[in-house]
Amino acid sequence: MVRLGFIGCGKIIRNAHIGPTLADHEDVELVAYYDVIRDAAEAMASDFGGEVCESELEVCEKSDAVYIGIPPTAHGPAERACLETETPFFVEKPQTLDLDLAREIASEVREKDIITMVGYQFRHTPAGRAFKEALEGHTPALVNMWWYQGTPKIPFNRYKSKSGGQVVEQVTHIVDTVRYAVGEIVEVFGWQNNVAHLDEEDWDNDDVGTACVRFQDGALGTITNCYALTEGAPGGNGAEVLTPDRRVLWAGNSLTIVTKNGEEKPEFPAGPAHQWEDLAFVEAVRTGDPSGILSPYSDGMKTLAVTLACARSGASEQPVSIEI
Ligand SMILES: NC(=O)c1ccc[n+]([C@@H]2O[C@H](COP(=O)([O-])OP(=O)(O)OC[C@H]3O[C@@H](n4cnc5c(N)ncnc54)[C@H](O)[C@@H]3O)[C@@H](O)[C@H]2O)c1
Repeated sequence: MVRLGFIGCGKIIRNAHIGPTLADHEDVELVAYYDVIRDAAEAMASDFGGEVCESELEVCEKSDAVYIGIPPTAHGPAERACLETETPFFVEKPQTLDLDLAREIASEVREKDIITMVGYQFRHTPAGRAFKEALEGHTPALVNMWWYQGTPKIPFNRYKSKSGGQVVEQVTHIVDTVRYAVGEIVEVFGWQNNVAHLDEEDWDNDDVGTACVRFQDGALGTITNCYALTEGAPGGNGAEVLTPDRRVLWAGNSLTIVTKNGEEKPEFPAGPAHQWEDLAFVEAVRTGDPSGILSPYSDGMKTLAVTLACARSGASEQPVSIEI
């Protein structure tokens, strides 16, 4: 039995991890919760069992592994408690907005050889894996990534200072899956702007962005993002890769491979996207074998570096090389 604890008891932990997968997992017991808002931890304990803790350290001491689901600017104490107690941890993306902090944590994770995972769910899904397989043996040439929607509903996403901006907080999922399927991005050059929220109160963020990206193996591409759509306007997210002989379009649970012989659209099991990463994390902790985890802390940090570079390039209007 894997005893799980939770630092941060908000929407993603409840609705994406515990609710659909962990609460009913036969190898899991939910044992400990900590949140700076005690009521949030109490609600979890009351709904799913386990006890409310007074600190991050207490959660770690009572658990075999810990989920961290807190705002992007709140990282540090939770991870340090895990490191101090050598407790495996799953951390939601973005794992921090501070690359130096991520480097420090990654270095200690490596030193202590702790099982970790960053919440990049798409590379763990059957569709995400098939996206990678569809490109094996083909040479990526042009790679376009996008996420288009209206005003974000999560309060901290209304502020660049609290979320890092749309690429760091959200398009990071697309960048991560493309890194997995295509390869490493080594340089970005982008812009961000605010076009539809100019007079809006309680808003300090960009709502459009575009970046050109260069891949290590020579492919070029773009990241475009938009928070400027009105309610119900057609948006979407995904990535498209052109190789000399095929065009591969990935979007969530759908994959389309187009060649001169026609179009292929494989089917994938339906169900919550996060279940695959949760199952992989629990299994890794249960067995001590991390091979099913495709996004350990150090790999997630590479995605973070690309997305932070987009934000830095937008601010400086200069190309930025990715340095880990
Ligand atoms: N993978 C995904 O698809 C996905 C989707 C949504 C959100 N997220 C990410 O998950 C994280 C949490 O987002 P959310 O939507 O659950 O936010 P939320 O605001 O619903 O929940 C965050 C919780 O953390 C608590 N908290 C704040 N600071 C804390 C601290 N220092 N220690 C302990 N608890 C603290 C808050 O009180 C709150 O209960 C964010 O990084 C977000 O980007 C990921």
